[in-house]
Amino acid sequence: MGIRSGRERVLCVVGARPNFMKIAPIIRAFAQCNSGLTARLLHTGQHYDEAMKSAFFEQLNIPTPDIDLGVGSGSHAQQTAEIMKRFEPELDRERPLAVLVVGDVNSTVACALVAVKKHIPVLHVEAGLRSGDRGMPEEINRILTDQLSELLFITEKDARENLLREGIAADKIHFVGNVMIDTLFHSLAQAVPASRTLAGLAGFDQQAGYGLVTLHRPSNVDDPEVLARLLGVLSTISRQTPLVFPMHPRTELRIASAGLEKLLDESSVVTVPPQGYLEMLGLMKDARVVFTDSGGIQEETTALGIPCITLRENTERPITLSEGTNSIVGTDAGMIMSCYNNVLSTGGKSGRVPELWDGKSAYRIVDAINQWALERV
Ligand code: UD1
Repeated sequence: MGIRSGRERVLCVVGARPNFMKIAPIIRAFAQCNSGLTARLLHTGQHYDEAMKSAFFEQLNIPTPDIDLGVGSGSHAQQTAEIMKRFEPELDRERPLAVLVVGDVNSTVACALVAVKKHIPVLHVEAGLRSGDRGMPEEINRILTDQLSELLFITEKDARENLLREGIAADKIHFVGNVMIDTLFHSLAQAVPASRTLAGLAGFDQQAGYGLVTLHRPSNVDDPEVLARLLGVLSTISRQTPLVFPMHPRTELRIASAGLEKLLDESSVVTVPPQGYLEMLGLMKDARVVFTDSGGIQEETTALGIPCITLRENTERPITLSEGTNSIVGTDAGMIMSCYNNVLSTGGKSGRVPELWDGKSAYRIVDAINQWALERV
């Protein structure tokens, strides 16, 4: 194996929204580095709505995928199986040198499993993160994908310890920094100002400053009792700090099916459709505080120095707690209020940008892949 033709292909896989900002700098780095490796892009179609997909491809200058599997939604088993079934023949046609997967979504593990069984090496970007919570679908995806991978690119040093504990050989692990933060720094100048996004939203007064909310984890939105509790406390907070809440389709469905819209009716929580990347960046950058259960937003707020209150019991990204601006509070109303009051009175944790979150991670990844490919000759 190795680079013989000068046109060896690395098949890069994306599926869901948080994958898009991770793949953008990698595709760019492959195009810029004169390595003899070519990136090909495959989209599984896990996320397919205009707001969940196309806006990101345009704003992040991601090329149209070479292959689109068009799988769509389904139960975890259906979605994962459908991706695997549709991916296999494409892999046979492409015959890449390696398959590169990012993050921890169903598309990540599905494509990794198909590739490794065909003896095609898997390269995992954002490896080694662990929440310790196996009730989280992403945690299962992380553990399995890492076991299947040949090269594991980590964003923070804790990840190395996690991988070594699970028996991964040290020489497969590369500390490269965070590609999501590559995209953030690359895009900051084009962020859509929050004032523009919020202008004209009925009932929204930005003068007093605002907070930003995102919620979509099954553990927070699938149980009506937890969801009601979270909406209740956010509604209370919004009377002091108006909140803008871009709503994931899963959350919108759950609020409607549990009949919880009334909890927001009397509040200053303004719901809006899922936002584009540049709109979201602008909203985060100017927020007084961010409430979230997203993984990526914990990292983005740390890079931006914006206080983040994470509505989960754990995080797979502990560096955002130890070095960044993140606080984990769970879903208890009292804990959320007390953390929010603390942020208001102190301005929140000062934090610093973690090591190698410097906008150059994708170049380190492509260099490491190139080196690995040369050593396989
Ligand atoms: C997925 C990822 C999660 C990530 C999130 C970001 C897994 C296990 N989860 O969760 O890690 O944080 O993406 O958004 O892969 N839907 C639409 N339009 C779409 C996509 C989904 O309406 O374009 C709706 C469908 O009703 C679907 C539901 O959202 O059933 C859930 O979508 P799915 O891709 O299964 O998981 P997410 O909750 O988005």
